[in-house]
Amino acid sequence: MTDLDVRTEKIPAARAVDAMKTYGTGEASVHALAGVTVDFPRHGFTAIMGPSGSGKSTLMQCVAGLDRLTSGHVFIGTTAIDGLSKTDLTLLRRDRLGFIFQQYNLIPSLSAEENILLPLSLAGTKVDRAWFDEVVQTVGMQDRLKNLPSQLSGGQQQRVAVARALVPKPEIIFADEPTGALDSRTGTEILSFMRRAVDTTGQTIVMVTHDPHAASYADRVLFLADGQIVDEMDAPTTDRVLDRMKRFEG
Ligand SMILES: Nc1ncnc2c1ncn2[C@@H]1O[C@H](COP(=O)(O)OP(=O)(O)OP(=O)(O)O)[C@@H](O)[C@H]1O
Ligand SMILES: [Mg+2]
Repeated sequence: MTDLDVRTEKIPAARAVDAMKTYGTGEASVHALAGVTVDFPRHGFTAIMGPSGSGKSTLMQCVAGLDRLTSGHVFIGTTAIDGLSKTDLTLLRRDRLGFIFQQYNLIPSLSAEENILLPLSLAGTKVDRAWFDEVVQTVGMQDRLKNLPSQLSGGQQQRVAVARALVPKPEIIFADEPTGALDSRTGTEILSFMRRAVDTTGQTIVMVTHDPHAASYADRVLFLADGQIVDEMDAPTTDRVLDRMKRFEG
């Protein structure tokens, strides 16, 4: 198999197999993931939903190599990440994955532009200026590139964080409640942009969200409860996701 095959259709962008994550021991132990097997298709936009404490962040963190499973396996493309050394895992994250967190995680002393370019500078990769400009235009930050994060609103900071994840064209972007702290208009802009990145550049996105409207931008929603996948929905709409959530709560 060539690199091209691996990076294209057949192989899921990421996969978890029998993923278990247990925190603590004995009576105090919590099974944050209690046996999850799931594929994240390439060029797909997957949303992960479920009640607070159901294991959404744990699943995302373990698939993204930010945390280790207690047992089971995670693959990024054909790479089994469980066996990687700490250094190799760090390099894999740096070279192949992108992250958007709820709290932006921007570096306060760097300008918006420097924050966006940081992953590329760390990797020593050359900047594709045309793509940089396109991403910055789309998130509407072209006039604020010289500003420090403290000089930007929450929504603007999140747009910088989204641009920072997209500019290196990672194989997969993982986003944990990326619009949770935003007003609905800015949130909708960011979600539309993520949707466009999937449709026009074939970006793969995995997003944790509590919000049925946010989930409606995905191709597929996974529903988690007590550390297990209990349902999934293709072509979600806000109303169908809401209905499903009500049924689970009732
Ligand atoms: N570092 C940790 N130590 C101990 N328990 C943890 C730790 N991280 C998570 N947990 C537990 O694992 C379970 C799953 O947590 P997780 O953060 O994945 O939930 P979540 O679905 O993301 O919830 P939320 O919607 O509130 O963000 C919870 O019961 C949580 O208390
Ligand atoms: Mg969480």
